[in-house]
Amino acid sequence: MEKIVIDGKHTLSGKITIGGAKNSTVALIPAALLADGVSTIKNVPNITDRDALFDIVKELDCEIVQKGKEIKIDTKNLTNKTISQELSVRLRASYYFMGVLLGKYKHVEIYFPGGCNIGQRPIDLHLKGFKAMGAKVTKNKHKYMLDAEELHGANINLTFASVGATINIMYAASLANGVTTINNAAKEVEIINVADYLNKMGAKVAGAGTSTIVIEGVKKLHGTDIEVIPDRIEAGTYILMGALLGDNLVVDGIIPEHNKALFDKLSEMGVKFTLGRRSVTINRCKNLKPVNVTTEVYPGFPTDLGQPMSVLLTQANGTCIMEETIFENRVGHYPYLQKMGANIELNGSVATIHGKSKLIGTDINATDLRGGSALILAGLIAEGTTTIRDIDYILRGYENIIHKLSSVGAKIRLEEI
Ligand code: EPZ
Repeated sequence: MEKIVIDGKHTLSGKITIGGAKNSTVALIPAALLADGVSTIKNVPNITDRDALFDIVKELDCEIVQKGKEIKIDTKNLTNKTISQELSVRLRASYYFMGVLLGKYKHVEIYFPGGCNIGQRPIDLHLKGFKAMGAKVTKNKHKYMLDAEELHGANINLTFASVGATINIMYAASLANGVTTINNAAKEVEIINVADYLNKMGAKVAGAGTSTIVIEGVKKLHGTDIEVIPDRIEAGTYILMGALLGDNLVVDGIIPEHNKALFDKLSEMGVKFTLGRRSVTINRCKNLKPVNVTTEVYPGFPTDLGQPMSVLLTQANGTCIMEETIFENRVGHYPYLQKMGANIELNGSVATIHGKSKLIGTDINATDLRGGSALILAGLIAEGTTTIRDIDYILRGYENIIHKLSSVGAKIRLEEI
């Protein structure tokens, strides 16, 4: 077991290249099972969620060949069987096998998904969509069985623009009889990446990226290739580090529009940065203006950057309000920021942050993926040494973070516990 150790207050200078998006990757790998034959997925990030999905795909008797960031998945021996609880609970995205196997076989048995403890995270909208298409859902203890004589098109109104439900319904609808319309669909850019993949397989998905997605079901799908888009959340995390410690820090391999909400907030705070076609160069801002931030569905300020953003707000000259609206329990990092010296009042999911605070290095614990990245950010700007435990959360979604940060001057290392 390892911990992360950081000696704070070192300038970050040089170039960090962003990897493929976790939240695309964890949707694209299950989707490969919709196709007959071999699929190639490129720009796959080196994160542990990837490995958890590999284990599920192998458990379903598919072949996976990995060469660096490129993987080939062959479904010729795919067997539709229960995905074990041990593998289902290792990550949230195991729920994508529901839509995929229901779409392909009209039957699936799977356990409740895992994932970060940032709220109740029910899957009622996924199940409502499947039922509208004719599936019968039975549940015992933690296992779901979904069955359908026939899956048919449906008109589905999502009461919340859920990313997971939108993608899962797209999977089942791609092989259903007839046309399915998803109203109030989620608009996150990862959904466009998934729809492009489905359409390259021979599906008929229109409107991805808008709040109305129309899927005309087809009989079968064929193997193809797809590239994972850059990870806007990984990029946002390093951009925030650049706003605090950057000396011409270049964050490369990004699609700037995907981080527009973040760049708008940084401009409001007085942070200077230069956008390139696929990069941003950012410098430390010594006089951060206070702002209020509310997380929203895309294209609003992403909930996945809320926790790292709260650390930047501890360094603003004045009082900021950080409000989390997507998940009801995404505040686990605040007690550790307070332990480091931050002046924060927490009321439910609303944090009143009084800046500018001097942070002091100490022993802290990651509570979830993005909470963990916020604590790394805090350790990088803190006086002295910070030690972070429970780092598995962080390695689930940030590839080679120790190497990437060390390469631009951070004093950060892994140590055995
Ligand atoms: C995806 O989670 C991402 N995870 C999350 O990233 C991200 O925070 C979230 O979308 C929002 O952008 C993956 O892609 C694997 P939702 P998901 O369904 O699909 C409620 C990270 O750090 N809801 O859009 O679980 C739900 O409880 C992770 O990378 C229902 O009530 O998010 C939440 O409050 C964390 N019923 C809200 O909707 C449902 O059936 C948003 O959930 C589904 C969701």
